[in-house]
Amino acid sequence: MSSYFSCCIVFLSVICFCTKICSADSDNLQDTCPTSPPGKQTIFINGFPCKNPNSTAAPDFKTSKLTEPGNTDNFLGSAVTLVTAADFPGLNTLGLSIARTDLRVDGMVSLHSHPRASELFFVSKGIVLAGFIDTKNQPFQQVLAEGDVFVFPKGLLHFSLNFGYDFATVFSVFNSQNPGVVEISGAIFQSDLDMIDRMTEGFLTHHIGNLTLNKRQFRKLNPII
Ligand SMILES: *[C@@H]1O[C@H](CO)[C@@H](O)[C@H](O)[C@H]1NC(C)=O
Ligand SMILES: *[C@@H]1O[C@H](CO)[C@@H](O)[C@H](O)[C@H]1NC(C)=O
Repeated sequence: MSSYFSCCIVFLSVICFCTKICSADSDNLQDTCPTSPPGKQTIFINGFPCKNPNSTAAPDFKTSKLTEPGNTDNFLGSAVTLVTAADFPGLNTLGLSIARTDLRVDGMVSLHSHPRASELFFVSKGIVLAGFIDTKNQPFQQVLAEGDVFVFPKGLLHFSLNFGYDFATVFSVFNSQNPGVVEISGAIFQSDLDMIDRMTEGFLTHHIGNLTLNKRQFRKLNPII
């Protein structure tokens, strides 16, 4: 009898564990819970409080924040517009968010990670090189054409760069309403250009250089390095 119970307990713990690792955010407990409009916050909870269900309406479930390209007139030549439950009320409690990345011809999104979400990376226009590094420091990268999808596993450092001769646009979907961004250049080096140069060069030599691009090709694509 007792072995039957211990079997049950082991079985239940395995189910609990699997459920936990499969769902990034906690499950929603009602149909909808659009983010309540920002006001003076007096309580702090995991996520956002819901709007009064009586005033929930269809526009809560639509966003037009990704229709326009972002401004790529910066030194990385890229713009990332991330829409989370804070900006898009309908996403609250659904464990989803979305982003648009615009890359000009020599543009790149430097190494960063999302601590709370995996990312599906869908190329809508152009040619993009995308890659991530796993915890054994092994690089995985692919050249993506229009319609291709790549996945960046949760928490792993990844990057993307325009690999073609035209503007590129990518849409990303995250399995968290608030994926978070950790940028190693921003966090450690405070936009120290020299440091970013050295870091990216090291990354290139160890990871990209050997696999797809040599440093001269990369330099041509990306004048900051
Ligand atoms: C929603 O509307 C119903 C009917 O008008 C009302 O009885 C209820 O109190 C309202 N709920 C809230 C939370 O305002
Ligand atoms: C680079 O290429 C060489 C020769 O093909 C290979 O032995 C080495 O493991 C590669 N290094 C990386 C980091 O992929």
